This record gives sequence, structure tokens and C-alpha cells, in this order.
Amino acid sequence: MLSVDDLEAGYGRARVLFGVGLAVEPGQLVCVMGRNGVGKTTLLNTIMGVIPATGGTVTFEGHDVTKMKPHERVKLGMGYVPQGHETFPQLSVLGNLLVTLEASGNPQSALDEALDVFPRLKPLLKRRAGFLSGGQQQQLAIARALVTKPKLLILDEPTEGIQPSIIIEIEEAIETLHASGIAVLLVEQYLDLAMRLADRYLILDGGHVVHAGTAADLQGEEARKLLAV
Ligand SMILES: Nc1ncnc2c1ncn2[C@@H]1O[C@H](COP(=O)(O)OP(=O)(O)O)[C@@H](O)[C@H]1O
Ligand SMILES: [Mg+2]
Repeated sequence: MLSVDDLEAGYGRARVLFGVGLAVEPGQLVCVMGRNGVGKTTLLNTIMGVIPATGGTVTFEGHDVTKMKPHERVKLGMGYVPQGHETFPQLSVLGNLLVTLEASGNPQSALDEALDVFPRLKPLLKRRAGFLSGGQQQQLAIARALVTKPKLLILDEPTEGIQPSIIIEIEEAIETLHASGIAVLLVEQYLDLAMRLADRYLILDGGHVVHAGTAADLQGEEARKLLAV
């Protein structure tokens, strides 16, 4: 479904990704792991076209999307929740969802389905997004991506800095989406969570894929060393 081949990207002269390759099959949940600063966010941003690839290709459902704009990739079915749960803080929860619904051209039912995944947001629809807790904002950020009806959902550290009770809800939501057949590419630092959710994983170090395998392989000493856990 998603195929990333020999991907290179960076900032100015500083190269960050060196020939990264990965694949996500339909319905699969693939977890990208690695220490801070190894290039995980840069990888997701390059896959979505937020940062241009300086080499290599990104293919989604048979389309070469390497040169496409982010919104064109969203139209094809790639949903993205960037790191740091960005929302429009001045808009209400409903306003945040409606902006995305309108841009997507999807029917109202897409919004209702997204809210069904995060029922905790339903009583908060009129509240300004800026007044939500970090965990609620993350749920809103994921709900907003769901409104675009993605076939592949790309999530960058959705549990980072979030209180444990909401981490569980977010994990359950990801599990539900995965079970419903949506493919997921997840950057996640918590090894336990990754092991519970992932079909496959890969570990980045210094902008290279240094380890990849099934969730069971993550038990290994080598994987733990690379994650410094
Ligand atoms: N906007 C930017 N400009 C310049 N360098 C950046 C920028 N964003 C990230 N970097 C650098 O790129 C490297 C990878 O960062 P990042 O992809 O955010 O890593 P991770 O998500 O794994 O923590 C780091 O060395 C970081 O300092
Ligand atoms: Mg990051």
C-alpha cells in the first residue's frame, strides 16, 4: 500500500535520512522507533510531502506521490497527525472538525464516525480547542485526520507528554482503527505499546533503518540496545 524506497531528505546541507526503505501492506500497523533526533519526524514529513525528498521515492497505492503536495496525498487516502497535536486553538472542537470536513469534501457522516472513535470529545464540541487538555487535543488531532477518511493513518508520537489515562484511550482507538482495516504507520517511543500494537516495526538510527522485523523480534537484546531502554 505504502512503499518508501531509498528515501533521502534533510534541512539545507544537513542530510537527515539516508536511503530509508519501508513498506506498509493494506491493514498493517507498522511502528517506527528510535531515539530522539534519529529522523522519525523527518521521515513522516517526507512521506507526506511536508519536506521535499532529495532522493528516492514514495509510492501510495500504485501512485508515485514523491512530488505531490501534502493535500494531494491526503486526497489519495493518506491521513497525517503530526507530532505535537496541533489544532486551531481559537476554533471550537466542532469548528476544527468542520474545517477539515469542508476541505475534504466528505459527507457529515465522516465527522460522526470520527467522533464515535473518540466519544470523550462529544460533550466538548463547543469548547475552544486551545482550552482542551493535551490528551483531548491529541484526540481531536486524530479525529480531524479521520474526517478525511484515510486508508493509511500516519501518527507521530500520539502518546508523547499525555496523561496515562488518555494514553490508554488513544491506544484503544488506534487498535480499533487497525481492527477496522485502516493501515497505520506509527512513530512510538514506548516499547510496550509498540509491541502490543505493531504487526511490524523498524528502528531508525542516524537516519538509517538499522533493525526491522515482527513485533516479537522487539524482545531482542539488540532492539532494546538501539532504543536505549
Ligand atoms: N526544521 C529543522 N531544521 C533543521 N534541522 C532539523 C529540523 N527539524 C529537525 N532537524 C534535525 O534533524 C534531525 C532529525 O530530527 P527529527 O526528524 O525531528 O528526529 P526525531 O523525530 O527522531 O526525534 C535532528 O538532528 C534535528 O535536530
Ligand atoms: Mg519526532
